[in-house]
Parts: sequence; structure tokens; C-alpha cells
Amino acid sequence: MIDGKKVLFSGMQATGNLTLGNYLGALKNWVSLADEYECFYSVVDLHSLTVRQDPAELRQRARKLLTLYIAAGLDPEKNCIYYQSHVSGHTELAWILDCFTYMGELNRMTQFKDKSAKHADNINAGLFTYPVLMAADILLYQADVVPVGKDQLQHLEITRDIAQRFNAIYGDVFTIPEAYLGKAGAKIMSLQEPDKKMSKSDENPNASIYLMDDPDTIMRKFKRAVTDSEGCVRYREEQPGISNLMDIYGACTGKTSEEIEKEFEGKGYGDFKQAVGEAVVDTLRPLQQRVEEISKDKAFLDSVIKENAIKASYYSNKTLRKVQKKVGLPEKIR
Ligand code: TRP
Repeated sequence: MIDGKKVLFSGMQATGNLTLGNYLGALKNWVSLADEYECFYSVVDLHSLTVRQDPAELRQRARKLLTLYIAAGLDPEKNCIYYQSHVSGHTELAWILDCFTYMGELNRMTQFKDKSAKHADNINAGLFTYPVLMAADILLYQADVVPVGKDQLQHLEITRDIAQRFNAIYGDVFTIPEAYLGKAGAKIMSLQEPDKKMSKSDENPNASIYLMDDPDTIMRKFKRAVTDSEGCVRYREEQPGISNLMDIYGACTGKTSEEIEKEFEGKGYGDFKQAVGEAVVDTLRPLQQRVEEISKDKAFLDSVIKENAIKASYYSNKTLRKVQKKVGLPEKIR
């Protein structure tokens, strides 16, 4: 608890460009969470080092991600948006937690297995202990809730196991975090293979709308979106293409499926795709303008980065000191 509020922690990697799915499904819905939770959003740049990165590109993408979060409406005064690498407690706690995590547990992580297969020439120790650094991220802030995608549930589970193991030995040190399952945002699917989630790492650029896509690109991608041969705008489970477009249109305009069906009664997919494209362009335009503005204001961004790192350090140090004391490390002489 911080100031009577529960704590929410989320980490995001600066790999790939954020998509419309990230925005409508997550980011947009996080804006109002700051009323209820003390929110920490960390750009987890240390995690990104587990695969080879181009240094200049990593730095640039990380700053861009931070900018997008603010542009999406997360007020940096109310939400602690910061770089993981600016708060040394993350790696310090990770080392201690490493000593409370078993090789066997880490060996079972499906993401480790997947990434090892994908980067067979670079199966480094960081890739193996990735979940422990993630556990440190979460436990350092005594987070109550963590909004995560399905692919990260296993990592949250190991975080809970590590925390419970530690608490069983040393008393109630860590809050046991839970997955945040608040009101779900729209689940946006690929425009090309609508039974797959829209993903920032999709190899087909037509499958995803990126948040910084220009209007022409957006209109073109919707024109090419996969639908079916039935040609009527109606929500049908077995036709994920048209249903996905309806979800996107609904999320951008606030209209329900029934309202959308009525609006496009007797009209074809061409008209509908045009309308969806325009709704998305209208939704992203203010976001893109804010990104431009914020990017230009170097002093503002720098001060957010600095102030929030100080704030994150303050809370993380409290936990770190407690942990260090519990495990028997000597107190620093000040
Ligand atoms: N592993 C997460 C992902 O790839 C990112 C992450 C790092 C994270 N630390 C976290 C997510 C802590 C939630 C909480 O998506």
C-alpha cells in the first residue's frame, strides 16, 4: 500500500512498435487506473539485453516507448513511468532472489525454451534468469496487481512462488502479487490472420496497425484486411475477420455491435472497412500529435525521467533495505 492505495506494477519491453492492439487492449484502459492504484510502469531495458540489441536503437526505442505512454494519457505525475536501469534496486534484489530460485523451476519456463530455440547461438545466463529479474521488478514495489498478457502468467506464478518461499523463511516481507484482471480492453486480432492476436512482432506489416502509422497506411491496411465472402456486417464467432473489425470500430467509436450492425445494414465490406479506417485514424491522430509535441520538449521528458527514477528509487530502496537486513547483510555505515 502506498498512501492508502494498492500498488500496480507493469513492465514493458521496448522491442517492436506498439500496435493498435496494445493501445485499445491495454494502454488506453490504464489511464483511469491511477485513481485506484499507485501505478508503476517500467521500461524494462535490462530485460532487453537478454537478446542482442543495437545500442543506439535500443536507447531510441526505449525513449519512444516512454513518450508513447505519456502521449496515451498516463499522467507522469500520477504514474511512475521510468527506466528499469535507472533504479539499481532491480538488479540488487534480483541477485538475492536468484539465490532463492531453483534451476529446475527456471528450466520449466516456456518462454526460456522458446527463446533458446530462437536464439540458439546466444543462450545466455540472463535469458535463463529473466523471470527472476521480473520477480524483482514486481516484489520491489510490493505490488498487489500486475496487468499481464497470457504469455506472462507463468512468470507471475514463479514470482509468487519465490515470494512465498522467501516469506516462509523470513516472515511477511513481500506482498504476494496477483494478475490484474480488471475490465478487459478490446482484444484486437491480426488483420491478416484474425484467429491470431495482433502482435508487434508479426512479420507481415499488413497484419498490424502501428500507433505511428500515417492515415494512408492505416486506410490501406484496412482495405486489405481479411474478411469472408458473406459480405454482411454482422458479428459472428465463426467469422473472426469481420468480428475483429467490428470490435475495432466499437472500441474507437464506443458503439455496440448491434448499433454497428444497424448502421451498416445493406452495406458491403468496402464501406465498412472505409469507416473502420477513418475511425482508427481519428483515434490515433491526437495520440500522434501528442507524441510529436512531447518528443520536441526534451526538457519535459528529461525531468519526467529524472523525477520518476527518484520516486521509484525511494520505494524500491525501502524493500531492498528490508530484504538485505533479513538475509543477514550488514547495514551500511552512513
Ligand atoms: N516480461 C514482460 C514481457 O515481456 C515484461 C516485464 C518485465 C514485466 N518485468 C515485468 C511485466 C514486471 C510485468 C511485470 O512482457
